[in-house]
Amino acid sequence: AGNKTFTMIKPDAVKAGHIGAILAKINEAGFRIVAMKLTKLSTEKAGEFYEVHKERPFYGELVDFMSSGPIVAAVLEKDNAVEDFRTLIGATNPAEAAPGTIRALFAKSIGENAVHGADSDENAAREASFHFAATEMF
Ligand code: CMP
Repeated sequence: AGNKTFTMIKPDAVKAGHIGAILAKINEAGFRIVAMKLTKLSTEKAGEFYEVHKERPFYGELVDFMSSGPIVAAVLEKDNAVEDFRTLIGATNPAEAAPGTIRALFAKSIGENAVHGADSDENAAREASFHFAATEMF
């Protein structure tokens, strides 16, 4: 398994003031931050980022939400990063997320679910290079 994943702290969690608490959980779980920025996606960039979901009924809502306010984008390093990070964040639907997971603690709904986690090594690499130049990853 690869050693890097890509995450975003979504607009709901940034607005609610949870950046620090979420980064603390990420560090406590043994992830090293190798790239990070506070940024905002335009609707065009959000549409491009979520292109794989273009045919889904929630695509428009997802793009509008993800471009509604600032996000934190980050690349994280750890053995088995993609799988271990998905365990740390919990299920997409916070009602189904295991106790103690980031989504159980901070997510509001399926759409406004506090954090993103890449779902494969290939997507982690694509998503990392979407947000960061090679010179911004340490
Ligand atoms: P994420 O895994 O980060 O990327 C795809 C996102 O689509 C997912 O998080 C959810 O936030 C969002 N999503 C999935 N299902 C729905 C849904 N039924 N309604 C709204 N958003 C959804």
